[in-house]
Amino acid sequence: MATRFRFLPPAGTPVSLADVASTIGAVLAGQEVLEAFKASLCAKVGVRSCEFVSTGRAALTLALLALKELDGGHRQEVIIPSYTCFSVPSSVVKAGLTVRLADVDPETLDFVPEYLEQIDGTKVLAVVATNLYGLPNDMKRWRHLTEGRGIYLIDDAAQCLGGSVSGRQSGTWGDVGLYSFDKGKNVTSIDGGVVVTNSDQIAAAMSTQVKRLRDSTIGESLTHVVKLLVYATFLHPRRYWIPNSLPFLGLGTTVYRTDYPLARYDKWMAPLGSRLFAQLDAFAAQRRATAEGYAKRLPWSARLRPIVPQATAVPAYLRYPVLVASEFRAKVIDVLRREGIGATASYPSAINDIPELRDRLKPEDRALSGGRDLAQRILTLPTHSYVTGEDQDRIAAIMAEVLGE
Ligand SMILES: Cc1ncc(COP(=O)(O)O)c(C=O)c1O
Repeated sequence: MATRFRFLPPAGTPVSLADVASTIGAVLAGQEVLEAFKASLCAKVGVRSCEFVSTGRAALTLALLALKELDGGHRQEVIIPSYTCFSVPSSVVKAGLTVRLADVDPETLDFVPEYLEQIDGTKVLAVVATNLYGLPNDMKRWRHLTEGRGIYLIDDAAQCLGGSVSGRQSGTWGDVGLYSFDKGKNVTSIDGGVVVTNSDQIAAAMSTQVKRLRDSTIGESLTHVVKLLVYATFLHPRRYWIPNSLPFLGLGTTVYRTDYPLARYDKWMAPLGSRLFAQLDAFAAQRRATAEGYAKRLPWSARLRPIVPQATAVPAYLRYPVLVASEFRAKVIDVLRREGIGATASYPSAINDIPELRDRLKPEDRALSGGRDLAQRILTLPTHSYVTGEDQDRIAAIMAEVLGE
């Protein structure tokens, strides 16, 4: 098939006509499914309490505000990885707290242990582990390190819903965990975020935060319906090339901003989220199978290296990350994209190179190199169910040709 008219989106979860029809039908019928959705999420991941809010970044901001209140405002610093989604530092800033960075190891995408082990923890309110691309971090280790030091651990599983470590669900390893139902996620409701906890104290503080929020407006709900229709129509590879060829849409671009609203979850989107959530195990299994397909096929060499998940982790593989020698990465992405494959260079820089943040950072955090190194070498491949074995063969062949030694 001519690749010009077939483009595999970099991320996303196919939404069927039945999903759209049932969501709109439930809205029109005034069906309330949010409470049942909440109960099924708590039961599935194994937590006592969850709060649903407008987005994942709102969830992280509100979780931090709740922890700040519990702490009485003594500890101001929040440690995050030097390379992660820009929503993570923006949530810290929006919560009126101070971003501190711990360097990441490009080989694991996780914290370099020595950074966390040596850090002066007396001013640290929380450590946020971010389980990038659905690869669970070494949560046992970070839990051990934060416990007993008055530091809260946040297991940010915005990208890792469906993953686990030692049989325990990602998002549930910390004092607080979170999930996102944004468009690029394993389970989407176009927008949405969840804070989970097993601590009664944190659950009460979160509930106070959520009570203060406004409901989503009718304008926001209608916008979600329109976005759902657009998403369901254009995510398909035979149509994705259309929005993908419109640069003004800025698909996949990452911007640092703190002006997002903090609001309650849009109930209109609960039927969609709830339907997709019921298929979580099947989505995760399919993504893992796709990841296995890449692991077997890609032409591994010094120029193309895998990221090996830690031994006890079962990844959710929201995307399939690899490390490409930096001098080849732009070319590999360019050729893959010309061939209709949504390969990406992920986030545009390390957190310490976000211009709006640099002046807020301590000199030692500004100088960290692991995130910078990763920002030069990371490449992600799609793992959703539109990726076929044939696509994977083609991706492997393109990479072998561009990277040939
Ligand atoms: C690790 C991480 N945390 C938080 C968020 C924020 O989620 P949302 O996009 O739903 O605001 C994201 C977004 O992708 C993320 O990757």
